[in-house]
Amino acid sequence: AQQVPDILSPEFAADPYPAYRVMRETAPLLWHEATKSYVVSRYEDVERVFKDKAGEFTTDNYAWQLEPVHGKTILQMSGREHAVRRALVAPAFRGSDLEQKFLPVIERNSRELIDAFRHKGTADLVDDFATRFPVNVIADMLGLDKADHPRFHRWYTAVIAFLGNLAGDPEVTAAGERTRVEFAEYMLPIIRERRENPGDDLLSVLCSAEVDGVRMSDEDIKAFCSLLLAAGGETTDKAIAGIFANLLAHPDQLAAVRADRSLIPRAFAETLRHTPPVHMIMRQSATEVTLSGGTVPAGATVTCLIGAANRDERRYADPDRFDIFREDLTTTTAFSAAADHLAFALGRHFCVGALLAKAEVEIGVNQLLDAMPDVRLADGFRTAEQGVFTRGVQSLPVRFTPVQG
Ligand code: HEM
Repeated sequence: AQQVPDILSPEFAADPYPAYRVMRETAPLLWHEATKSYVVSRYEDVERVFKDKAGEFTTDNYAWQLEPVHGKTILQMSGREHAVRRALVAPAFRGSDLEQKFLPVIERNSRELIDAFRHKGTADLVDDFATRFPVNVIADMLGLDKADHPRFHRWYTAVIAFLGNLAGDPEVTAAGERTRVEFAEYMLPIIRERRENPGDDLLSVLCSAEVDGVRMSDEDIKAFCSLLLAAGGETTDKAIAGIFANLLAHPDQLAAVRADRSLIPRAFAETLRHTPPVHMIMRQSATEVTLSGGTVPAGATVTCLIGAANRDERRYADPDRFDIFREDLTTTTAFSAAADHLAFALGRHFCVGALLAKAEVEIGVNQLLDAMPDVRLADGFRTAEQGVFTRGVQSLPVRFTPVQG
């Protein structure tokens, strides 16, 4: 049998996709000693774990993965507690709140970032745009001070490093834990102030939300905001960089999207399938469960490889090919719980910010295409992805002829 490279090896980090293929083929249920977890890589298995129709899995693993940096968030919850919490926060991320309150925030933040480089004819779409845009949007939605954006950026970078710290580097752990303290010191006085003087922002919406007589405490709101910075920042950041990297590598598809902007959701969905921002999500087995390749005992950690499942040849034709026109990507609107890919997970914890992410990508990509009519990669630059837990391109230098206006 072919040897499967270790998920913590440099070889795997450089390009996990060949290893994913070997895992799907020869070891769909793989014990990984260093993370003490069972690794699953086939679409049907990852889908089954996420959907969890039979109540076989919990998110108890987040007690050690998330709690030290965020406190208790919606991701650690289950059953009625989770359902009520989701009902409290979800309305802000769809429908009229999203369209009337937050689309203008997204448009403004995208435009501000683009205005800073549109006259130059060069930009790094990761540094100048993707890493700033989603985190600025969330901070602005929450009604926080613009001058604090660099701080959020630092916090969320530390949080993401903590989450991806599979090798257990103590400095990364300590930096993540410090973030929790600093964020609480910053956020709790603002929450108290907002309860006194509510506005039109997301923080005020969260302060006043009530379902079945339940409201969120200051600590609950702080933990949720902390999760938003990480869950909504890093992911969307990598998705925007990814969609551009993929389109720049396929000039015919870039030209098609430029000519017909209604293709942006397809390009986004195909990017999330082909190069998802989140590659690993863990769960805990509540009972003994049989998956392809064997049985997981009760109480085990299961690592779901989204990046592997999304390229399963049992599910997608020629899965390594990036093709926004592929026929096995049927949800052209890109988002429903029956999505075409696993990048937003599925089931109870399906990404609550999926529509917000979609709006950010549509607005951002539209504005970027308008500002850069002949955008191309800087001469000689070869894009490279980094990351194992989350993954994306680290820089994307481009050239273009500046347009007036
Ligand atoms: C949940 C991915 C954007 C907020 C999730 C999960 C994934 C995911 C995989 C499930 C985690 C699990 O089941 O353990 C993504 C990707 C995004 C994105 C790929 C961008 C392309 C956003 C945005 C926000 C957000 C913009 C909000 C600002 C959340 C929250 C949850 C979540 C709060 C937890 C939901 C729950 O536990 O019920 N996301 N996300 N995400 N996401 Fe996203």
